[in-house]
Amino acid sequence: NTQSVKFARVPHPSPLPAAKRAELLKNPGFGRVFTDHMVTIHYSDAEGWHDAKIEPRAPIPMDPAAAVLHYAQEIFEGLKAYRTADGGATLFRPEENARRFQQSAKRLAMPILPESVFLEACDLLVSTDRAWIPDGDGSLYLRPFMFANENFLGVKPSSGYLFMVIASSVGSYFKTDAPAVSVWVSTEYTRAAPGGTGAAKCGGNYAASLLAQAEATKHGCDQVVFLDAVEQRWIEELGGMNVFFVFDDGSLSTPPLGGTILPGITRSSLITLAKDKGIKVREERYSIDQWRTDAGTGRLREAFACGTAAVVTPIGTVRSKDGEFKIGNGGSGAKTEELKAALVGIQRSRAPDPHGWIHKV
Ligand code: COI
Repeated sequence: NTQSVKFARVPHPSPLPAAKRAELLKNPGFGRVFTDHMVTIHYSDAEGWHDAKIEPRAPIPMDPAAAVLHYAQEIFEGLKAYRTADGGATLFRPEENARRFQQSAKRLAMPILPESVFLEACDLLVSTDRAWIPDGDGSLYLRPFMFANENFLGVKPSSGYLFMVIASSVGSYFKTDAPAVSVWVSTEYTRAAPGGTGAAKCGGNYAASLLAQAEATKHGCDQVVFLDAVEQRWIEELGGMNVFFVFDDGSLSTPPLGGTILPGITRSSLITLAKDKGIKVREERYSIDQWRTDAGTGRLREAFACGTAAVVTPIGTVRSKDGEFKIGNGGSGAKTEELKAALVGIQRSRAPDPHGWIHKV
């Protein structure tokens, strides 16, 4: 699909005054502070992609029979824009998000948005709302998404869709000031079964994770860990991020992609960066029992969560209905910090970019 679109530009008549924006950017948290504009592109079976706009951010009219409200035909992406020292802006591997968005669309029986249109939409929003990129450790989180908007209650792929991009000025995803997060191992709920939608970034996967995540919160944990749906034994991923393990021989492992795990772009970048450093990385199944045993013997030294929102976040404590164990000293570890520094250095253009991951807006 190589269809191109032409974006109409509707500037905001009254963007938020700079002083108010600066106030919001001081401590934005995650996902609550939104910029002045948004991108919308319509799709219909008859016209293809059409009516592309960058316009003032506003509520969208929706019919109560819109298919997404009933059958959850919705997918999304998450990527960050960074402010550069020269006042410009960059995105990290946005082509990967565009491609994953296409894979998610296929799985949810939705139309394929051309990569070039996805990229142009992201670039346009970042360049228009560049002033909303926080200084320092913050970034501008882009949320491209697409949903079914045909007004029809029959169960079938919608004939119409809306693709949008909104942007949120963000700091850190986790509220905690602790040096590491705690995770709760869910033995009651699973996230994705073979043949299901686990590898697609669809809202439904996150809806299905919420009760398990709430259980984690109830047990004082920051994130839930899901086990595989077949044997309830192999570690898959956290509620909204992938997971890595660091061993005493300096090697790393992470659960293999096999259709039930979200193919994280941060995950794949860390695998590459670790290999660049000569660190051995195995994409290999790892069981919850082995995790507990290895944490006890010290064979397992560190564990961390990774994702666009989470970046690299050390895991210090693992809790389940069988009790609790600590990873290392319960804080962060040297390998975790080394890999995080390597990733963030490239993302923020403080280090060379040997793989061509930085996309200038
Ligand atoms: C991301 O890391 O971008 C995600 O989509 C995960 C979500 C928990 C915010």
